[in-house]
Amino acid sequence: MKIVTVLGARPQFIKAAALSRELRKRHQEVLVHTGQHYDYGMSGVFFDSLEIPPPDVNLGVGSGNHGAQTAAMLAGIEEVLVKEKPDWMLIYGDTNSTLAGAVAASKLHVPVAHVEAGLRSFNRRMPEEVNRVVADHLSRLLLCPSQTAVDHLAAEGIRDDVHLVGDVMLDVLNWAKERAAPKSAQTLAQLGVKQGEYLLATIHRGENTDSPERLGAIVRALNALEETVLFPVHPRTRKAIAASGQQLGSHVRAIDPLGYFEMVTASAAARLILTDSGGLQKEAYWLGVPCVTMRDETEWVETVAAGWNTLTGADCDQIVQKVRHFVPPSARAALYGDGRCAARCATLLQ
Ligand code: UD1
Repeated sequence: MKIVTVLGARPQFIKAAALSRELRKRHQEVLVHTGQHYDYGMSGVFFDSLEIPPPDVNLGVGSGNHGAQTAAMLAGIEEVLVKEKPDWMLIYGDTNSTLAGAVAASKLHVPVAHVEAGLRSFNRRMPEEVNRVVADHLSRLLLCPSQTAVDHLAAEGIRDDVHLVGDVMLDVLNWAKERAAPKSAQTLAQLGVKQGEYLLATIHRGENTDSPERLGAIVRALNALEETVLFPVHPRTRKAIAASGQQLGSHVRAIDPLGYFEMVTASAAARLILTDSGGLQKEAYWLGVPCVTMRDETEWVETVAAGWNTLTGADCDQIVQKVRHFVPPSARAALYGDGRCAARCATLLQ
């Protein structure tokens, strides 16, 4: 069986790490990198450290407005599909690369398999929400991380070939935790932080970075905190903060984006995580680290229901109060599967 996989952005490289390994045991995979993320720290480092095979094709699309970026991807992916004539198109998550893969393949009648299907924030102002709704409706095989996701699809009339497989990020986290552990003391020393004595923050969502009010409130909150904040900064966030003219307090340590192993170590050792990322909300849960999510809603509602994640929006006082006082319960049930999602996806594709 031949599968064309489309990747483009950091979280997709992480997800593909588990499934590519599994697929290549039995099938031919043609890996297409759209080039949406192109900095070594946002892309190459993940291929190298997570042992993802190098892309067969790199479309080199780069950054741009949504229309231009997605259109360039569509044209490039179409060419690959015409040449390769695969049995499946495999897409991950909710980025513009996901959308382009889904649209290009469905126009050429190549069946689409969507990993992380069925997530909804019910906020259509997020580009990710638009991407995932379209991708799900064009997909033939829907691989869902949670029962909530299965239910969302059913509510939209998608009931055939919907499977609850768990979350492929848990497979990758388990794999990486073992490998990161022997170096964790060294990594924390290099980052200049001590186990349990700092906060880890990430911000990159357009809804936060592209709004001066929201970004301003988040930066004010980080500056108001008493603890060391380790802050690996996404390139778009770095530009937005620089453009806003705001200064980060000296306890906020803005560093370049981290590789996956370093990020796993930094997450596991943090006292608390502050984020607007989707993946990090789950990783915080799996690692048993309390999470404050600086968004108005989340797709990962189970982490909130379990009491380990709390939403603050971009409200400065809320963020500060929650960081100071949020205490999850001692119990933490298993969420999003058992870490064997990739094998299940490979079997379903077969
Ligand atoms: C994308 C996804 C988002 C995902 C995120 C992970 C969409 C709509 N959004 O957002 O869902 O959570 O990836 O990081 O697809 N840039 C660089 N170097 C890079 C990549 C980006 O400098 O390697 C800068 C550029 O200024 C660019 C900006 O970051 O304009 C935003 O990049 P973009 O491709 O729009 O996606 P993300 O914001 O990363």
